[in-house]
Amino acid sequence: MTLRRLIAGLFVLGLLGLAVFYWLTTPDTLVASQLPADHTPDAKNGEYLFHASGCGSCHLVPGTKDKTRLAGGVELKTPFGTFVAPNISPHSTDGIGGWSQIDFVNAVMRGVSPDGSHYYPAFPYASYQHMRIEDVLDLKAYMDALPPVAGRAAGHDLPLPFRLRRGLGLWKLLALDYQEIRSDPALPDQVNRGRYLVNGPGHCGECHTPRNVIGIMDGNRHLAGGPAPEGDGRIPNITPAPSVNVGKWSAEEIAETLSTGFLPDYSDNLGGSMTSVQENLSHLSRDDLLAIAIYLKSIDPITED
Ligand code: HEC
Ligand code: HEC
Repeated sequence: MTLRRLIAGLFVLGLLGLAVFYWLTTPDTLVASQLPADHTPDAKNGEYLFHASGCGSCHLVPGTKDKTRLAGGVELKTPFGTFVAPNISPHSTDGIGGWSQIDFVNAVMRGVSPDGSHYYPAFPYASYQHMRIEDVLDLKAYMDALPPVAGRAAGHDLPLPFRLRRGLGLWKLLALDYQEIRSDPALPDQVNRGRYLVNGPGHCGECHTPRNVIGIMDGNRHLAGGPAPEGDGRIPNITPAPSVNVGKWSAEEIAETLSTGFLPDYSDNLGGSMTSVQENLSHLSRDDLLAIAIYLKSIDPITED
């Protein structure tokens, strides 16, 4: 083979590789015709979902408590770098004012921006992908009526390889299945409701499920806790293993703890990053908190390593 043919061959292989990479990492989005045509968005349900899904915990202004002023700026430290939550208030230039329903649905349920780039999974769409599309549309209706706040948050602080968003398409291929959580007729209604709230909007596994080296939640250790990703302390196991609190507490006690923040023996409060989650959950109905608790008590107990 002559040198020219070899170079030409390598060039063709390179192009093929690029084409395959491009194909594999192309965003998987929904189109407007896939939105439910007969759904009238319900902002009241949207407000409820806003609490259940904790958008305000990450997107509020750091140092403030007002989860309705969503100018962003909170830093999220992860093993892959520091992410900064952006402005998602309905401000027309600095926030997401003017986004269409399909833009919003693709951001929350597909992790894709209106211009077609991938979001980092520090935005917990690996859980929100499981939400009902109607709930996401209701959420938008509520958020559209929040105050627009000017100002853009700082950019992320990431090492070079992670600055290229295109490659996230490969991660998504492995991490996401884009399945809405549907009720399982074999399960009681309360368990179904809890299962949806925990694994969809509530995104409990984003903290409580350990991740593998590339940051994918380990399905075999669902909600079994592990070392905190920021490096200090542990995230508790919330499966009903006999050795851990969720195994020992009754469903009523778990629901009460999520509602008030006090542990059942009043020895302590829920602390750390759970403080803000618990504040969101305190807006949910007793029935829903009990559904969450009953679901947690129904899953496979996983003991610590
Ligand atoms: C754990 C923290 C966290 C939570 C909870 C969270 N987000 Fe975010 N969100 C982020 C981060 C970080 C980004 C930036 C992602 C990127 O740049 O790739 C983001 C990006 C976004 C964007 C894209 C904004 C833009 O300008 O492109 C939207 C829209 C959004 N989030 C909406 C929501 C909604 C709605 C909820 C609740 C259902 C929510 N987020 C909950 C962390 C969070
Ligand atoms: C942002 C991360 C994060 C998210 C999201 C999160 N948790 Fe937690 N959770 C924690 C941390 C950290 C603790 C430990 C708090 C402490 O040490 O006081 C905790 C503690 C708990 C406890 C007490 C467990 C024990 O053994 O004492 C329960 C129950 C719990 N979480 C349930 C949930 C549920 C249900 C959800 C989803 C609706 C959820 N958590 C979402 C971080 C999180």
